[in-house]
Amino acid sequence: MTTLSIELAGVRLANPVILAAGTCGYGPEVADFMDPRGLGAVVTKSITPESREGHPPWRVVDVPGGMMNAIGLANMGLERFLAEQVPAIEALDTVVIGSIAGHSVEDYATVAAAFDEVSSLPIVELNVSCPNTADGRQFGHDPAALRTVLTEVRPVLARTKLLVKLAPDAPDPIAMATAAIEAGADGLTVANTWPAMAIDVETRRSRLSAGRGGLSGPAVHPLAVRLVHEIHRRVAGPAKVPIVGLGGVLDWQGAAEFVLAGATAVGLGTALFVDPRIPQRVARGLDRWVRRQERGDIAELVGAFEP
Ligand SMILES: Cc1cc2nc3c(=O)[nH]c(=O)nc-3n(C[C@H](O)[C@H](O)[C@H](O)COP(=O)(O)O)c2cc1C
Repeated sequence: MTTLSIELAGVRLANPVILAAGTCGYGPEVADFMDPRGLGAVVTKSITPESREGHPPWRVVDVPGGMMNAIGLANMGLERFLAEQVPAIEALDTVVIGSIAGHSVEDYATVAAAFDEVSSLPIVELNVSCPNTADGRQFGHDPAALRTVLTEVRPVLARTKLLVKLAPDAPDPIAMATAAIEAGADGLTVANTWPAMAIDVETRRSRLSAGRGGLSGPAVHPLAVRLVHEIHRRVAGPAKVPIVGLGGVLDWQGAAEFVLAGATAVGLGTALFVDPRIPQRVARGLDRWVRRQERGDIAELVGAFEP
């Protein structure tokens, strides 16, 4: 499917379909249930310098139109990730993107510097937008705070390309995208989950232990399409910075919408909880769509939405 091969921030992907951070473990797990060669890339769970237990159960609940999660960035920490996961990542037959999270600028810079040494992680994604932790979130809402973290992270990435994953509920997403690009982001992931609540009406308590969580799945898809469109039209398109469209894609039509809105690649997260065969189906559907549109290359359709 050469029609689907794309370049994301200078890195060649077999197709635009990317498995989203936190929804496919550390990466190597995907080989248990699909052929990784059918994917464009896989994003690891977000890694912090120290290991984190995350929140107690319940951490994931079904809601109409999608799901909510409040995992709290549970992960094995940087040291164990490098020792236990990187060898398997090296053997994985697809591009792996390393997701980075933290409580402080130093945390982000520490993980970024370590990832820059790992040649099997050609791209990193900065998760400055997790709605489920108190810290780290300021970097996703305040352009000045985002510039501060990127000022420290960008120079330690000698080799690795940098995606910044934006929060959908930032007061001014355009200002956040502008700050990310000006501070050296090679691409933007748009977007993380949407802050939400679900209440058990019998106990009158939250259905998630953390009290609130992040909404993902079809309910957020039209919201994310609009966000991709606005960011592409106003900042990323003119600056020629690629966008990974992310939110609620369950089929190729949803992925094609993101492409027309301005996304170079498309992430899938909740879809994996519905049916792990969806990513491959999305890639096949996109391939047929590009041919029906009489284009030789999906890149020709990026931002081709006719207002
Ligand atoms: C169970 C779960 C865990 C997640 N963990 C992370 C994470 O560790 N880091 C991150 O940047 N995003 C995380 N996300 C957000 C997803 O990467 C994605 O932004 C979001 O789910 C929207 O896409 P979707 O509607 O296709 O699921 C998580 C989402 C879910 C559902």
